[in-house]
Amino acid sequence: MKKIKISPSILAGDFSNLGSEIKKLEDGGADMIHVDVMDGHFVPNLTIGPPVIKSLRKYTNLPFDVHLMISPVHKYIQNFSEAGADIITIHPEATKNVKDSVDLIKSLGKKVGLSLNPDTQIETIEKHLKDINLVLVMTVYPGFGGQKFISKILDKIKSLKKIKDEKNLNFEIEVDGGINFENNKLVIDAGANILVSGTTIFKDNNGDIKKNIELLKS
Ligand code: DX5
Ligand code: ZN
Repeated sequence: MKKIKISPSILAGDFSNLGSEIKKLEDGGADMIHVDVMDGHFVPNLTIGPPVIKSLRKYTNLPFDVHLMISPVHKYIQNFSEAGADIITIHPEATKNVKDSVDLIKSLGKKVGLSLNPDTQIETIEKHLKDINLVLVMTVYPGFGGQKFISKILDKIKSLKKIKDEKNLNFEIEVDGGINFENNKLVIDAGANILVSGTTIFKDNNGDIKKNIELLKS
């Protein structure tokens, strides 16, 4: 059976206590920490930037899975790398030259991800699949936590898994948005192996993070 990894999004945590939220996620069995960076321009919401990521770095050795929803993203990649990101995921629409940005992330020694918005087709990033570590498939329109999972994206996950298997590629398939106990099995069966979750992990079962992480994996 393939190993499923959980990347809890701190977006649903208490922003006045992010250090202790991250400790709780680590104690609860998180495999990495998903950090949603929004600029109020690429997406209609604002969150945090490199200084906050840097100050959170000391709370855990888990990888920081940094999801950049900012445009233009290229000139900020180095800042996020220096702040302590381990995985840097960008949206292809947010950079002039996807290959240059992918190469930059790799040259900094970081893992690189490309994200597909619900309306962005796999073809947009297909030629880069051999060069990247993961594809972050958005199952909501990015910008806010707590949105409803868009079930038609399951077909995109299946197509991506098919391409990965046929071409024998190594990228991981991560899903992000509205993941809960009803759709976790569906996305896993479709081919995802990393599940991002904010609301479900922090709020379900009275905020029992350990239980929620275990349930999402099963
Ligand atoms: C949406 C973000 C997601 C979001 C996930 O733009 O990229 O990571 O915070 O949160 P839930 O699980 O609440 O949809
Ligand atoms: Zn995200």
